[in-house]
Amino acid sequence: MHFRPAVRDSLHAQGQAGQRNCVQHVRRLHMPEPNEIFFAEHHIGPLQVWWTSHPARLSGEPTARPLLESWFHLPPGALPLRRDMRGKPRLEGALQHHDVSWSHSGDALLLATGPEVEVGADIERLRPRPRALELATRFFTQAETDALQALPEGDRHLAFLRLWCAKEAVLKAHGHGISFGLQRLEFAPLGADTALQLIACDPQLGAPNDWMLHQWQPHPQYLAAVAWRARPAG
Ligand SMILES: CC(C)(COP(=O)(O)OP(=O)(O)OC[C@H]1O[C@@H](n2cnc3c(N)ncnc32)[C@H](O)[C@@H]1OP(=O)(O)O)[C@@H](O)C(=O)NCCC(=O)NCCS
Repeated sequence: MHFRPAVRDSLHAQGQAGQRNCVQHVRRLHMPEPNEIFFAEHHIGPLQVWWTSHPARLSGEPTARPLLESWFHLPPGALPLRRDMRGKPRLEGALQHHDVSWSHSGDALLLATGPEVEVGADIERLRPRPRALELATRFFTQAETDALQALPEGDRHLAFLRLWCAKEAVLKAHGHGISFGLQRLEFAPLGADTALQLIACDPQLGAPNDWMLHQWQPHPQYLAAVAWRARPAG
């Protein structure tokens, strides 16, 4: 197996605060070119995670289903998956103790599943976001917006996306999506090389320390995040 050094480094530079118990094993990795099929899978804490090519703008379910069926040793079409009233995919029956989440952006899909957890996945294609500060002012907490504003302009774009991706991953795990309110959870610190940690959140999300976050760049053009916590009792 051949890794490009930049990718290998980004995958390994993650044993940081807020990312405890993180064990990764990458079995296959191909760099995406236009229309290329690419595929990688990782073990991240209790999660099985896939990053793979996916037709742009289409629902992720047709890509996610066969991967999950293979992972759970089910025949095609046998995955007990439905959407709840908010649109979050839910596994049922024999798989009811597992959670699943996926996200798609550009030509890529990120998929994560794990037992006895709530999991949320988010992937964003890196592209210029000229309205980053405006969006931050509107949707992030005051402290996050101030921290973004204090960053050199060159770092701000990536810091904004890392924050957005982290928040969306937690809110997808929680199941309400971003309509819950991106300002109802706060991450710090914001910097080019530091791992984000959830430092405050609405009580409906539990305690900040309940949450684990793992962020990485599966490819220089993509930013990925998975967030999970132990499934709350009841
Ligand atoms: C749902 C939401 C998280 C999707 O975010 P996005 O960046 O547009 O898209 P992503 O690629 O990251 O995720 C899409 C996947 O999120 C999942 N999803 C949808 N609703 C979800 C929810 N409430 N919680 C967790 N995951 C959800 C689905 O699997 C979806 O995949 P699909 O395209 O195959 O249906 C975001 O749009 C949101 O929170 N919206 C607010 C809730 C909302 O308005 N829901 C509309 C239905 S009433």
